Amino acid sequence: MSTASTVWELQCLSDEKNRRLAKTDPVAFSRLCRIEPDPWQAAVLRSDSKRILLNCCRQSGKSTTMAVLALWNAIYKKRALVLVVSPSLRQSSELVRKVTERVAYLPIKPHLVGESKLTLEFNNGSRIVSLPATEATVRGFSAPQVVIEDEAGDVPDELHQAILPMLITSRGRLFLCGTPKGRRGHFFDYHERGGATWTRFRISADQCPRIDAAELAQQKLLLRDRYEQEYNCGFINASSGLVYGGFDELACCVDQLPKPKGTDGWSYLLGIDFGFDDHTAFVLLGYLPNDDTTYVVLSHKERGLTPSEVGDRVAEMQSLFHFTRIIGDTGGLGKGYAEEMRRRFHIPLEPADKQNKRGYIDLLNGEFRRGKVKILRQANEALLEEVVNLPWNEERTKEHPGFDNHLTDALLYIWRSCTTYLQPGTKPAKTLTPEAQAKKDLSEFWKRDQARLDNQRSAVLADQRLAFGEEYDPNDPFNGA
Ligand SMILES: Nc1ncnc2c1ncn2[C@@H]1O[C@H](COP(=O)(O)OP(=O)(O)O)[C@@H](O)[C@H]1O
Ligand SMILES: [Mg+2]
Repeated sequence: MSTASTVWELQCLSDEKNRRLAKTDPVAFSRLCRIEPDPWQAAVLRSDSKRILLNCCRQSGKSTTMAVLALWNAIYKKRALVLVVSPSLRQSSELVRKVTERVAYLPIKPHLVGESKLTLEFNNGSRIVSLPATEATVRGFSAPQVVIEDEAGDVPDELHQAILPMLITSRGRLFLCGTPKGRRGHFFDYHERGGATWTRFRISADQCPRIDAAELAQQKLLLRDRYEQEYNCGFINASSGLVYGGFDELACCVDQLPKPKGTDGWSYLLGIDFGFDDHTAFVLLGYLPNDDTTYVVLSHKERGLTPSEVGDRVAEMQSLFHFTRIIGDTGGLGKGYAEEMRRRFHIPLEPADKQNKRGYIDLLNGEFRRGKVKILRQANEALLEEVVNLPWNEERTKEHPGFDNHLTDALLYIWRSCTTYLQPGTKPAKTLTPEAQAKKDLSEFWKRDQARLDNQRSAVLADQRLAFGEEYDPNDPFNGA
C-alpha cells in the first residue's frame, strides 16, 4: 500500500469518528473542515460562555476559528442566524470566503440555498450574514443566535451598541475578536472592565505555532512601539511615538458632564483651526467654578468651509453655548476668517498663541495624565480619533505630516489660552461672601502660580531640547556639560 493511500485511509477513519462527534463537538467538526485547532482555538470552540473576548495577535487564527464556529452553528442549529460584523467590506467578504473554503472540505456538503459574497443560506433555514461596519445597518435582523465582531477594535461603538439589544431578546452569544487598537472603544472597555461576564482569551505571537520566531524578531525591529500592540496583545497608549501619549481613555473620557453645583453654571470657550482644503476644526471647552478640570464638551471638523459658513457654524454653537471667548489661528489663511468673525460677532476672535507648541503639548499631556482635561466621549469621536492616532514624525521633532491634527490644534489653542485665563480682570466679577471670595482668590492664585511655573518649565525644556536635541534629559544635571 502506498503512503498516500495509507494517509487517505487514516483520514477516512478519523473522518468517520469526527462525523459522529461533530454535532456535539465543534472541535471534531473543525477537524472535518481540515483545521486541527490550536489548544486555545479548541477551548474557544468548546466554550459555552455567552460572552467571549479574543484578544489575539495578527495571524493567530481568530477569523479561521470564527469561520468554523459560524459554520458549525449554521449546520447543526436549525434556523440559526449568525451575524458577523467586520470593519470593512473586504474583511466581511473575506470571512464568508473562509467559511465557503471550509465547506469545500466537508465530506458531506451542506445544502446551500443561497450564496453571495456576504451571505450564506442553508436549507435548514440557517443563515450566515456578514456585515461591513461601513455600511452596516443591523436593523432588520432579529434575534441572532451568534454575533461575531471580527477586528472588534475597529468596529464603531455605535454599531456595537445597536447589536446589544438584539442579543438580549435572542439570548444569543457574542464573540468579540481582535487585536488591540489603543486604550479606547468597547473592545478595550470589555477587556479591562467587562468583569466576570466575559471569558477572555489572550494569545500573543509567541503562543502561535505558525508564526516564525525570526520573522517576529524582524517585526519587532520594524514596528518598535507598535509591536506590543500588534503581536503582544497590549492595549498601549501609544507608545512614546504618539504626540498625545499622556491621553488614556479610562482617565480622560467621560460619558456625562458633571452637574454644576450652586448657582454658577458652565462657562464656555471656543477654539478654531481654520482651513479650506483642510478641515476647519471647532473645539468647545467648558469649565465650572470650583472645579479645576477642563471639559472638552464638543468638537467638529468640516472641509471646504468659506468664512461666512464658518460664521454660520459659530453662530449655531453660540446660540446653544454662549461662549465668552473665541481663539483661532488668525495668521495666513485665518485672516479672512478672523475678519468675518469680527464683523458678525460681538466677541472678537483672539489670535492663537502658537509659540512653543511642543512645550504646550507636554503640558497638555501632563494635564491628561492628571485627569484634569476630560473629553465627553460621544460628542468628540473625531477628536478622539486624532488624539489616539497622531504620531510624531520620524525625527520626533514635529507632528507627523501624514496625520490629521486640526482638532488637536484647535484644542491646543483654546486650552492654552485657558491656562492663563484666570488672570485678574478677565473673569466676570461675581458677588460672593467675603469668605468665599478669599477662598477663591487663594485658589486662583495657586492656579496662576502653577500655570506660570509650568509655562516656565516647558519653555525652558523646549529651549534645552532645541539646544541639545532629543538626547536632552531634564533630570540629568550634566546635560550639555
Ligand atoms: N489551527 C490552524 N491550523 C492551520 N492553519 C491555521 C490554523 N488557524 C489559522 N490558520 C491559518 O493561519 C492564517 C491566519 O489565520 P486568520 O484566521 O486569518 O488569522 P487572524 O484572523 O487572527 O489574523 C490563515 O492562513 C489560516 O488559514
Ligand atoms: Mg482576521
